[in-house]
Amino acid sequence: MIWAPKMGLFSIPMLGFLLFCCLAVTAEATYLKYKDPKQPVGVRIKDLMNRMTLEEKIGQMVQIERSVATPDVMKKYFIGSVLSGGGSVPATKATPEIWVNMVNEIQKGALSTRLGIPMIYGIDAVHGHNNVYNATIFPHNVGLGVTRDPQLLKKIGDATALEVRATGIPYAFAPCIAVCRDPRWGRCYESYSEDHKIVQAMTEIIPGLQGNLPAKYKKGIPFVAGKNKIAACAKHYVGDGGTTNGINENNTVISLGGLLSIHMPAYYDSIRKGVATVMVSYSSWNGKKMHANHDLVTGFLKDKLKFRGFVISDWQGIDRITSPPHANYSYSVEAGISAGIDMVMVPYNYTEFIDDLTNQVKNKIIPMSRIDDAVRRILRVKFVMDLFENPMADLSLANQLGSKEHRELAREAVRKSLVLLKNGKSSNKPLLPLTKKTTKILVAGTHANNLGYQCGGWTITWQGQGGNDLTIGTTILKAIKNTVDPSTQVVYNENPDTDFVKSNKFSYAIVVVGEPPYAETFGDSMNLSISEPGPSNINSVCGAVKCVVVVISGRPVVIQPYLPTIDALVAAWLPGTEGQGVADVLFGDYGFTGKLARTWMKTVDQLPMNVGDPHYDPLFPFGFGLTTKPHQAEPKSH
Ligand SMILES: *[C@@H]1O[C@H](CO)[C@@H](O)[C@H](O)[C@H]1NC(C)=O
Ligand SMILES: *[C@@H]1O[C@H](CO)[C@@H](O)[C@H](O)[C@H]1NC(C)=O
Ligand SMILES: *[C@@H]1O[C@H](CO)[C@@H](O)[C@H](O)[C@H]1NC(C)=O
Ligand SMILES: *[C@@H]1O[C@H](CO)[C@@H](O)[C@H](O)[C@H]1NC(C)=O
Ligand SMILES: *[C@@H]1O[C@H](CO)[C@@H](O)[C@H](O)[C@H]1NC(C)=O
Repeated sequence: MIWAPKMGLFSIPMLGFLLFCCLAVTAEATYLKYKDPKQPVGVRIKDLMNRMTLEEKIGQMVQIERSVATPDVMKKYFIGSVLSGGGSVPATKATPEIWVNMVNEIQKGALSTRLGIPMIYGIDAVHGHNNVYNATIFPHNVGLGVTRDPQLLKKIGDATALEVRATGIPYAFAPCIAVCRDPRWGRCYESYSEDHKIVQAMTEIIPGLQGNLPAKYKKGIPFVAGKNKIAACAKHYVGDGGTTNGINENNTVISLGGLLSIHMPAYYDSIRKGVATVMVSYSSWNGKKMHANHDLVTGFLKDKLKFRGFVISDWQGIDRITSPPHANYSYSVEAGISAGIDMVMVPYNYTEFIDDLTNQVKNKIIPMSRIDDAVRRILRVKFVMDLFENPMADLSLANQLGSKEHRELAREAVRKSLVLLKNGKSSNKPLLPLTKKTTKILVAGTHANNLGYQCGGWTITWQGQGGNDLTIGTTILKAIKNTVDPSTQVVYNENPDTDFVKSNKFSYAIVVVGEPPYAETFGDSMNLSISEPGPSNINSVCGAVKCVVVVISGRPVVIQPYLPTIDALVAAWLPGTEGQGVADVLFGDYGFTGKLARTWMKTVDQLPMNVGDPHYDPLFPFGFGLTTKPHQAEPKSH
């Protein structure tokens, strides 16, 4: 009340001034600089970080699995990111609508926090949007390297971005830019080539996923061009493809010079192209776990290469710093965060991670500057990609999922990824291209009528699975039936005996065999053999009739023992859902053009053996691939 007498003295002007102050205070409360898209990203980051508590900052660094990401958890722990693990879906055969609703529910939890920082949802879209029913499944990278076609990779990136956005997701853990130096590695099919130059060229998928860098964009700054594009992730940093005997997650023994000249170059390209994130490798380099390698993660990637996006761990990657995993979790947290990891794919026990990290910051074991570096990077990616402006997904891109256009693109990729390794026994004329019009042909083998097998691992489920029901696509058998003349009888017998083959008068046979689906450690193989009854299929058919063998595999397999009986041999890798691309080339609508992006060994005893090695003695050398001319002029490609 001491103001009351004075009110009369100052009267109207003073009242106006007070009123002005009140309005200013109200406006101050609603105008938040970090929410203003007209402000520069740096200003927005600074403004937001000034408002954040330690709890809110640590929350940004946590990525949890969708199965534990309730809106309440998002809100209570200020969680910054959520992922789908391999095969983790909201429902079997979930539609885009189910996906979008799930992502939005989680996002609402994140947005209901005090500062309303949107979460970023990530998923392994490593050969198309592979966890999702009815998505276009592109060939795995081992096949794409064969194409030597960076523009094709860019288009695949464009298509994948649209399909991922169709389900409300803005972030993919791709591309894998591993340089696989030993095909015994279970992830070799995730690698474009044993030759780093091919891997480098294939990083053109990054501008496809994220969009073209604007002119004069500063190197190292992450770039994602808005709502139809997604953040990418170059992985796994670094040396993942160089482990001893190809053992997954094992030790890469190589000099610094070797590491920099073989395994590092594709990171230079990725960073130059504005890749938003980099994932650290489970593997070790000369005995030191990459998840704990400060020199390479902070010293090299961040300081020397000036990478300004965020570094993410692999799934329970920090747990595996110790052996056995999770043996000393607080040590793992300390070592991983100190090395420079910004976002940790926890993915379940977020309270344990948050408690450990919070204690370590409070006890000054981890400096606040390290937390600020991590959060600044995570927020930078979120601001750059307009996540604050567009946090909620909608169904506007739903019809992009598995669209005809994308399937045509995948079919083109399949055609270009095939490698013709043999075409006719020396005395005979070439068997390929096959004639479409004849009386009767045989299609045989474990992989001829199996959509799941031709897609491989990382398809619908983490490990992949056999069968024709797992998603929508065209099997090789179906593609053959689509392609031959209607008068040609196609006999399908998965596992025929020689008597059956001999007693029928087949013009020729197509035998499709290979590896069953696998992913990661489950795919490590010390024998690289074709699984039974594949070898029996080859022997019983090829001994009795002219045959082309199509191998479906994630890598070169041991084929030499069967080679003399085979008339024509095609490596089709893991082509994905568009099996029609295989028939397009077998029957000469298009020619074979693919060149091996890997060395094809005679025996596993020769491994590791890569192009340029001394004593290089392959069955088929790197770069090998016979060609055929199409029957007629090739249809115009669009
Ligand atoms: C590599 O594999 C061997 C054999 O399984 C194992 O004993 C060793 O601990 C592994 N090393 C690393 C760094 O994972
Ligand atoms: C975990 O690691 C830390 C840091 O090296 C060490 O001080 C602590 O004793 C370890 N705890 C256990 C249970 O081994
Ligand atoms: C999470 O970690 C804490 C601390 O180690 C442990 O007590 C708890 O049981 C864990 N929770 C789950 C769900 O694993
Ligand atoms: C698959 O996607 C296409 C293209 O969006 C759509 O037309 C079709 O109905 C979908 N099929 C199924 C079984 O969901
Ligand atoms: C080859 O190795 C795989 C995986 O290690 C194994 O399952 C399979 O039985 C082996 N095959 C042969 C013929 O030894």
